[in-house]
Amino acid sequence: DYVKELLDLKNIEEQLEINLGIGQVNIVPGDSNENPLVKKELGKAAAKVLQRFVNDGDIIAVTGGTTIATIPENLPKLSKNVLVVPGRGALGEKVEIQANTIVAAMATQLGGNYKMLHVPENLSPEAMEKLTEDPKIQEVLEAIRKANILIHGIGDALEMAKRRGTSEENLRLLEEKEAVAEAFGYYFDKDGKIVHQSNSIGLKLEDLEKIPLIIAIAGGKDKAKAIKSIAASKKQHILITDEGAALELLKLC
Ligand code: G3H
Repeated sequence: DYVKELLDLKNIEEQLEINLGIGQVNIVPGDSNENPLVKKELGKAAAKVLQRFVNDGDIIAVTGGTTIATIPENLPKLSKNVLVVPGRGALGEKVEIQANTIVAAMATQLGGNYKMLHVPENLSPEAMEKLTEDPKIQEVLEAIRKANILIHGIGDALEMAKRRGTSEENLRLLEEKEAVAEAFGYYFDKDGKIVHQSNSIGLKLEDLEKIPLIIAIAGGKDKAKAIKSIAASKKQHILITDEGAALELLKLC
């Protein structure tokens, strides 16, 4: 907190809460674009927020990505009677940063249980539909829809599409539609409007309306546009970001 005062981050947090319309903004010092250690600080801040809000009986939905992957290692061993589930099925990420992997690690730290969504990416829509009918998958999907806490990352649209091996055709489509952000498999334009969605199952955007606590974690100057877009969808309750993204966001607001 001393460092925050020194850098006037508290003031910037308040300005962003007003300008982005997000109830709580937490900023960690530094820029994760320039220093990878700052990403770990994001994980630490997210772990703190989670500990403050988590209660027995909660269902926590979690997405993938390198940022969210830093949360479990920053959680102490707790004994919470919670269920942790992935927000969406596989999106083409490496195993280490897939939601399923993070879910297991997070549940272990929290002392709760977890369910994984075993759905490979790049399935045809027909195969995906068939798989969705499976009772075991249905059970996980039901738990996901009952989640009362969602923790998710935010990515730059084109960067995420490339990282996940999206086809040239889809990349062109995203460019044409001026996608700037990606979160839980959805791609958004600068006004927070959905312009494309990944072929995956799990949380749908309309499910977010019913989730009482949605926590977004994303940092780095390069993600400012993407964060602004997701904030425009007016569904986030808490944003955990870094100084690099925050200063850039102030310029965009
Ligand atoms: O959906 C957004 C991405 O999961 C963000 O990934 O944390 O590795 O930048 P990242």
